Amino acid sequence: MNASTSSARTETKVTSTMPSANTVRRVYKPLLFIVCLLPLIWLTAGAFNVAGVDLGVDPVAKVLHQLGQWSLRFILITLCVTPLRVTLGWPWLVMLRRMLGLFAFTYVLLHFLTWLILDQGFLLDSGFSWHSIIKDIIKRPYITIGFTALLLLIPLATTSTNGMMRRLGKRWKQLHRLIYVIAILGVWHYYWEVKRDVREPLLYAAILALLLGWRYWHSHRHATKALS
Ligand code: HEM
Repeated sequence: MNASTSSARTETKVTSTMPSANTVRRVYKPLLFIVCLLPLIWLTAGAFNVAGVDLGVDPVAKVLHQLGQWSLRFILITLCVTPLRVTLGWPWLVMLRRMLGLFAFTYVLLHFLTWLILDQGFLLDSGFSWHSIIKDIIKRPYITIGFTALLLLIPLATTSTNGMMRRLGKRWKQLHRLIYVIAILGVWHYYWEVKRDVREPLLYAAILALLLGWRYWHSHRHATKALS
């Protein structure tokens, strides 16, 4: 058996187990979109008291907390794409990354709007004051950190289009490294928000440390390989 036959066989094996770009676009992406919407559908059902979903005695706090949790989960899930793509050898996973990142942004934005509107009374309460919002953002450290993370997410969300990717070139990648800072701020925000039991924020911190550690190890290994 000559080399070209063997490489053709290998290629056939790889391509036959890989979904085509078309399958990812037409099947995986819509499915993922629906899955990403599930927490929001669940909260909406709870808000309208349908499908047996109950948000408990303090629905606003429940919505705020759930949206916060999902914000952090989506940030971490987005950060899982590269390690999974490299480790499993599934290049197509990269096609799902933008959607996951945009869902992370959407959940953070909804989390912020829940706080601003339902908790602080923007648009609902005649006693609402921007002064007290600004005071809260400046004076409460966990809010300061959360708000900084939200602000940092805005340039990432607005430059997520193919056009912006092309226009920014190398700088796009540099800019999108902000996601690491955002993830750290997100975990930190959670850690400071929790009053007593810090086990859950510490679990998120451990997952984030693993993901960042993997990235460091991977880029270091590449640099060493390039030198040798
Ligand atoms: C990347 C940005 C953010 C992430 C990942 C995030 C995540 C979280 C998480 C995980 C929680 C705890 C949920 C729980 O206890 O189960 C939380 C709570 C909270 N977050 Fe955020 N958050 C972010 C941004 C913001 C922003 C911008 C604000 C408002 C300016 C905010 C305000 C709050 C408030 C008020 C709570 C609940 C505090 C309490 O009930 O004591 N967060 N957030």
